[in-house]
Amino acid sequence: MSKEARLVVVSNRVGPLSDEGKAGGLAVGLADALRRRGGLWFGWSGETSEAGTDSQAKTETEGEVKLVTIDMTEDQVAGFYLGYANRSLWPLLHYRLDLARFERETDRTYRAVNREFARRLMEFVSEDDLVWVHDYHFFYLGEELRRLGFKGRLGFFLHIPFSPPEMLAALPGANDLVGAMLAYDLVGFQTMTDRRNFANYCKHELHGQKQPNDRVRVGDRVIEAKVFPIGIDAESFAEFAASEEAEEHAAMLRSNVGRSLPIVGVDRLDYSKGIIERLLGFERLLENYPERVGTVQFLQVAPLSRSEVEEYVDLRGEFEGLVGRINGRFAALDWTPVHIMTTGLTRRALAGIYRAARVCMVTPLRDGMNLVAKEFVAAQDEADPGVLILSRFAGARSELGEALIVNPFATDEMAAALERALTMPLEERQRRWRAMRDKVFANTAAEWCRKFIEALEDAGREDGDRPAD
Ligand code: F6P
Repeated sequence: MSKEARLVVVSNRVGPLSDEGKAGGLAVGLADALRRRGGLWFGWSGETSEAGTDSQAKTETEGEVKLVTIDMTEDQVAGFYLGYANRSLWPLLHYRLDLARFERETDRTYRAVNREFARRLMEFVSEDDLVWVHDYHFFYLGEELRRLGFKGRLGFFLHIPFSPPEMLAALPGANDLVGAMLAYDLVGFQTMTDRRNFANYCKHELHGQKQPNDRVRVGDRVIEAKVFPIGIDAESFAEFAASEEAEEHAAMLRSNVGRSLPIVGVDRLDYSKGIIERLLGFERLLENYPERVGTVQFLQVAPLSRSEVEEYVDLRGEFEGLVGRINGRFAALDWTPVHIMTTGLTRRALAGIYRAARVCMVTPLRDGMNLVAKEFVAAQDEADPGVLILSRFAGARSELGEALIVNPFATDEMAAALERALTMPLEERQRRWRAMRDKVFANTAAEWCRKFIEALEDAGREDGDRPAD
């Protein structure tokens, strides 16, 4: 196969290709890759219509990239996106079995929507294309494409964690789901832990074997399962941080906090992000280090997300209640400890906020990678870099070990890490930051994409192990 094979990307949300949009991990990584290589990006239009996945495809062309989208019906969105993807798979893959809901109907709709997307995609692909499917919305899509006769290269990348087999086994139909992943030639994960969990599931639940060269065998199928930690477009993000819009936002943050040191958190309002635990850590800082009262301010930017899903509505209530409690407990006439924003910000504005922050808290309870951690690093100014506090449960932890690593469940440890960050000497801040900067600028989104595509082109090469017809 020629290196020039066209790239076809499939993901639930498509675009934007421009970096001016609101922050979003997958979109940012892929837009960068597609712009460099050119190709087709296929997914959901974000709209509902009566025809749903039978709707006329909408096509937009931006430079060398074609965006093709189809609608879903309201029932398809309810079962596929709100139901199975976000009430079954999302919590389960983030190790939250307690929040996972399993319903036969949403499982059916999820599989049917995967089938429909595969059927519609067949109108646009040829066997010479490299098809790269993304994320937990489309576990079955590769298998459906194979059923429809697609014989080209098929890759899959999971942006979120892959939970251990003992937990994943709780999903009704888990064997079907993991079995469907075997239709791909290459499956990619963010971390070694995720890859190991997948290989262990194949071994223990599907009677497979782990083989050399990152291969996994189940029955006659041999596929490659590799680790590709996603990166950001670090150069552009650093440029954003030096832009006028960024400077305006940095100035607003500084004037808002006055004499206090700004601590920030930026996350979609999602229970996996550990926002509640982070606020409890900040509250504990004010309790354990009373001299901090009146001298620090915590800003949480938390754009609302998946608001139709019950668990997210509950989280919002808990979040606002906790902020109210902390402010009610500690505020003075001239000082408010916690400031929150639930509207989204442009990436330039965010870059400015990161640059003005003294500390950034990235404390998910479980996270595939977490690109906020990398963006925070890219946005810093060498003369006076801020400190990153990073959860040991974020995928980014394996690369960014020079951050202050915390267990987000350990409230006193979080408070102590905050105190350490606030008092860290400039020289130590610079040393830690430089080490992280080098990695963030080396393993970029473009690199991530290049490595995945190269591995997909080579998958199964040595022994000609190609997918069964
Ligand atoms: O982390 C997985 C992910 O799909 C991201 O790529 C994306 O930014 C986020 O979730 C957005 O979720 P949704 O599409 O449900 O709003």
